[in-house]
Amino acid sequence: MASQKLRPILWKKGTLHLLEQRLLPFREKWVKCDTVEKVARAIEDMTVRGAPAIGITAAYGVAVAALRSKAGTPLAFKRDVEKALLRLRKTRPTAVNLFWALERMQLRLKEMTGANPSDQGRWLEREALEIHKEDEALCGRLGKNGARLLAGCRNVLTHCNTGALATGGDGTALSAITTAARKNRKLHVWVDETRPYLQGARLTAYEVAHAGIDFHLITDNMSASLMKQGRVDAIIVGADRIVANGDTANKIGTYALAVLAKAHGIPFYVSAPTTTLDLAKSSGKEIVIEQRNPREVTHPQGVAIAKEDYPVYNPAFDVTPGELITAIVLETGICRAPYHRSLRSALAQSQASA
Ligand code: MRU
Repeated sequence: MASQKLRPILWKKGTLHLLEQRLLPFREKWVKCDTVEKVARAIEDMTVRGAPAIGITAAYGVAVAALRSKAGTPLAFKRDVEKALLRLRKTRPTAVNLFWALERMQLRLKEMTGANPSDQGRWLEREALEIHKEDEALCGRLGKNGARLLAGCRNVLTHCNTGALATGGDGTALSAITTAARKNRKLHVWVDETRPYLQGARLTAYEVAHAGIDFHLITDNMSASLMKQGRVDAIIVGADRIVANGDTANKIGTYALAVLAKAHGIPFYVSAPTTTLDLAKSSGKEIVIEQRNPREVTHPQGVAIAKEDYPVYNPAFDVTPGELITAIVLETGICRAPYHRSLRSALAQSQASA
């Protein structure tokens, strides 16, 4: 297997560099983000995407603003950083990791009230680096926990991109797959192309190929027939927000897979760090689903496949009810229904060990 690690977010001398994911797999280009506006646009335009990755990027966005602040007083500095927090909060609404990371940066800011601005800038930079480093460690634990569920599977299906490109480490669901594949060379992955933005075709296929894992790329409408033929042993996906009853927002198309898994008696797993939990919400009905530009549907990758003026519905995510999820893999371990109990105790465990 290839050993060089794929890392899409780099912090160099106070500046954020992002791998331009919209050009993958055909071109590797890095985008320099030296203002908070550039960081916010990179999240909105999906230069960077994936729940943990946008959280890390937003934290660095705060650090960019803090290090570039010209404020001469702690109060003016606080205003500059709060303006950045406000801008970054408006980028994408569904993945809770973004809000989690911004809240943590805000808490750090509050703890430093009154200190001189240059010290505060350096501390905020350190906090963003810490968030990034912690996510890398979480991915390792998710990989190990998820691989236990995949042991013995021959064919695993996944949706969207949940690997290194979506996180600060080796991924969430994809980390489970790559970890399982290290033990079981026969593991084969069905990679859903993930319409309309094609994260599966462009990014997951690129990552599994990079890892040397056996795979086939399929269009999203092929999974039902594969399941019927007995050619899918398990499905594992990531998450953008998991609420108290286990309802899970993830890439559009996830819900359909969960329904199909149930109909065919196939286990359906979700893998995410505890930073993706939003236990203040009791059900998926409370999750805000991002609506994206119609052109992503009519012009995938800039190629027209439908008339520009057609009415389009383009939600980026859907919600899979907790009752369709066989297990939720967290860095603390594996949670099963009833989720309102298992998720709460997992979160308490992770907070106690922080
Ligand atoms: O719109 P995207 O590409 O940001 O959506 C990403 C997903 O839905 C992923 O499955 C999710 O963030 C989990 S990533 C580890």
